[in-house]
Amino acid sequence: MAIQYQISRGLHGKSRLAALKGGYHGDTIGAMALSDPGGMHTIFRDLLPRHFFADQPKCRFDAEWDDADFASMRKLLNDHADEIAAVIVEPVFQGANAMNFYHPEYLRQLRRVCDEHDVLLIFDEIATGFGRTGKLFAMDHAGVVPDIMCIGKILSGGVITLAAAIASRHVSDAISEEGRGAFLHGPTFMANPLACAAATASVRLLNAYDWRSNVLRMERQMRRELAEARDFAGVNDVRVLGATAVIEVEKIPSPARVMEIVRKHGVWLRPFGHWIYAMPPFVTPEDEVTHITEAMKELAHG
Ligand SMILES: Cc1ncc(COP(=O)(O)O)c(C=O)c1O
Repeated sequence: MAIQYQISRGLHGKSRLAALKGGYHGDTIGAMALSDPGGMHTIFRDLLPRHFFADQPKCRFDAEWDDADFASMRKLLNDHADEIAAVIVEPVFQGANAMNFYHPEYLRQLRRVCDEHDVLLIFDEIATGFGRTGKLFAMDHAGVVPDIMCIGKILSGGVITLAAAIASRHVSDAISEEGRGAFLHGPTFMANPLACAAATASVRLLNAYDWRSNVLRMERQMRRELAEARDFAGVNDVRVLGATAVIEVEKIPSPARVMEIVRKHGVWLRPFGHWIYAMPPFVTPEDEVTHITEAMKELAHG
């Protein structure tokens, strides 16, 4: 969509994208090409389109902002903006290839620099959207609005497959206003009525209870209960934002050890590399959250 937008405006050279190291956008070819180049898809590198990557944001969500964190992205856009259609990032929370929460100021700077360089900004809110980070969308931590946004996951409450790409008016107009063209990406099951009905019901349900208080309660509880893991040998970091908790361990736990803990506690844990993490549903009661954090701590203990 971003590339077609640039072509519609006669900017044929803007045909690549920029993304972040440590990013994750999915497992199809296009999405793998935008995910961390040294991450889980590295073996497919030769098959994938080549895009630009800026350094992973390191300034923590709740730390003092460090301008150096944005230097790599600023340079990338200064040097290559005439080849770049859009920048895509997971706002605030880089998921499967980093499990890290970064500073919202990064997004404000990114919005500014994208505007300066006539580059679209895409937020992948597939994992973060609908409350996961404590705000309805992670971009709300920064007060920044992208040009294109991807949503999925909680959109349909986890019961049926559905994702959506949302474009601002200026993007859709540039592509398809009178006499221009059309956006011709139409898979067979696009706007599937059953999935859309499930999504509508799910969003209604989300709006019908105080999910913000639940997420805040879970955040406080997971912070409190996981704090002691910071002192475990072999634990590098513990971080919690909204309804996501991560223990970063030095040594990747063996599958046998993971299975042992899963069976013992009856808690489904699936660590990614060095990250033992949990993203429980917002309706998880307090005693079940404790059950989850206990299992995470025992696995982190080695
Ligand atoms: C940030 C992000 N983007 C994209 C995807 C891919 O979504 P799907 O698995 O629905 O293709 C995921 C899935 O985990 C994700 O976390």
